[in-house]
Amino acid sequence: MTLATALTPIRPAIQALQPQLVQWRRTLHQRPELGFREVETAARVVELLRQWGYQPQTGIAQTGVVAVISGSRPGPVIGLRADMDALPIQELNTVPYRSQIDGVMHACGHDGHTAILLGVAHYLAHHREHLRGTVKLIFQPAEEGPGGAKPMIEAGVLENPRVEAMFGLHLWNDLPAGSVGVRSGPLMAASDFFRCQIQGRGGHGAKPQQTVDALVVAAQVVVALQSVVARQISPLEPAVVTVGEFHSGHARNVIADQATLGGTVRYFNPDLAKVIPQKLESIIQGICHAYGATYRWDYEYLYPPLVNDPAMTELVRSVAQQVVEPGLGILPDCQTLGGEDMSFFLQEVPGCYFFLGSANPSKGLDFPHHHPRFDFDEAVLSLGVELFIRCLEQYGR
Ligand code: NI
Repeated sequence: MTLATALTPIRPAIQALQPQLVQWRRTLHQRPELGFREVETAARVVELLRQWGYQPQTGIAQTGVVAVISGSRPGPVIGLRADMDALPIQELNTVPYRSQIDGVMHACGHDGHTAILLGVAHYLAHHREHLRGTVKLIFQPAEEGPGGAKPMIEAGVLENPRVEAMFGLHLWNDLPAGSVGVRSGPLMAASDFFRCQIQGRGGHGAKPQQTVDALVVAAQVVVALQSVVARQISPLEPAVVTVGEFHSGHARNVIADQATLGGTVRYFNPDLAKVIPQKLESIIQGICHAYGATYRWDYEYLYPPLVNDPAMTELVRSVAQQVVEPGLGILPDCQTLGGEDMSFFLQEVPGCYFFLGSANPSKGLDFPHHHPRFDFDEAVLSLGVELFIRCLEQYGR
C-alpha cells in the first residue's frame, strides 16, 4: 500500500471530525471526575455511542463502558482503550472550557483520550462497510489509581469475543504536537507504593538518652533507601525509589515517638519486583535494629511495567510513518518511569501503547502532565483518531 492510496480515502472524513472532537473534549474537560466516579463522563460516552447505533455495556468495574462493532467482513477482534478519569488538582487555566468542578481537573489529557476514542467510534459506525473483523472500544475508569484496567479484565472485557490485539495512546506534552513516541519492549515502568511506620520511644527534647528518636531513625532510613538503586541494582537497570511523604513530630521540644514514610518505586525489569522491596526492607530493618526502634512495612504492587509487543510496535511505527508530517518524526526510544495500567491489558494481549505528542509552546500548551496549568494542542485529536483507524485497517495485512 503506497502512501498516497493509504491516505486518500480516510483522511478527509477523519479531519472533518475535528470540530466535534474538540467539542467532546471540552465538554469532558469542564466536568472532570475522579477515578471510579466517572458517572457523568460515562453517561456522556454512552449517550453518543447510542446515537451512533452502538449498544454499549455500562457499569463495568463501576464506571467503565465497552462497545463492540463488527464489520461486514470477518476478521480479527481488536481492542482500543481510553482512560476517562481526572485528577484532584485545582485548574489554574483561564480558558473558557476550564474545569467547573472545584479541585478536580483533567490535568493528564484523559479527556482527549476519551474524545479520540469517541471519534474512532463515530468513524467506524459511519464506515462500517469498510471494517473487517470486530473492534472493542474500552472506556476505562481510574487510570490514575487505584486502576480500572485490572477490574475490567476481571469483569471479562477481553472475552466474548476474545480480543487478540490491543492499542492505546497517551497524549504527551514531552513531545511536540503531531509527533509520535513508540518503543518496542518496556515503555513505562512498574509503579509500586510503600509505607513504613517507625516506632521509637518519645520523650523530652533535652533528654535524648531516655528515648528512641523515631525522627532521627526515619531520617537515616530516607537517605539509606537511595543506596538501593545507587549501589545494589545494576546501573544498566533503570529504577527509582522516591520517598514522597515524611510525617513525624509535633512539638519543637519533644522527641517524636513515631515517624511515617511513604514512597513509590519504579523499574522496567520485572525481576526487580521481588528484589527491590527485599532490599528496602533489609535497610529499614537494619537501621531500626541499630537504634532500638521497631517498624511496620507495607509494600503494594500497583501497576506492572508496560511492555509493548515487537510486531504491534512495528505496526504502529509504520502507521505513524504514513501520517506524521515529515520533520515532526517518530521518536523510537521514548521511555518513561511513569506508570500506566494499560500494562495489565498488555500482559493479557499483545499490543502497543504509544505517545502522541501534544505540546505546542507557541500557544503556551507545554505545561507538564499533572500541572494545574496543563493543557494540550487539540489539533492532534484527529491525528489520534487516524492513527487508531489505520492500525485497525493494517493489522494482520
Ligand atoms: Ni495519564
